[in-house]
Amino acid sequence: MYTERVMEHFRNPRNMGEMPDADGVGTVGNPVCGDLMNIYIKVEDNKIADIKFKTFGCGAAIATSSMITELAKGKTLEEALKITRGNVAESLGGLPPIKMHCSNLAADGLHAAIEDYLKRKEAEK
Ligand code: FES
Repeated sequence: MYTERVMEHFRNPRNMGEMPDADGVGTVGNPVCGDLMNIYIKVEDNKIADIKFKTFGCGAAIATSSMITELAKGKTLEEALKITRGNVAESLGGLPPIKMHCSNLAADGLHAAIEDYLKRKEAEK
């Protein structure tokens, strides 16, 4: 039911862990299943220099978190904001329809982390 890429990211998640000195943190919950995801970003020169995630969720949530960290790393904030829920699922070769809501968490978490960073920057002014 899962593609090989999903299983691979689930078995070897990239960029898993916390980032105590993050420049932005996005926390999102999934109302469908109650799962929770944190995305941490470090920003340098308007680019995502580093990104980590901590996810309490199903296998698909872990695989999509891992995938979004790979998609977002090195991108400008504008590019990263354009990564959609669909992009994440596509990059994993698709997700079973019943698991599509899980990929929403990753994209929403990334966007929330960027918004948090922009808000903090605004507050510094
Ligand atoms: Fe909760 Fe997948 S079932 S995120």
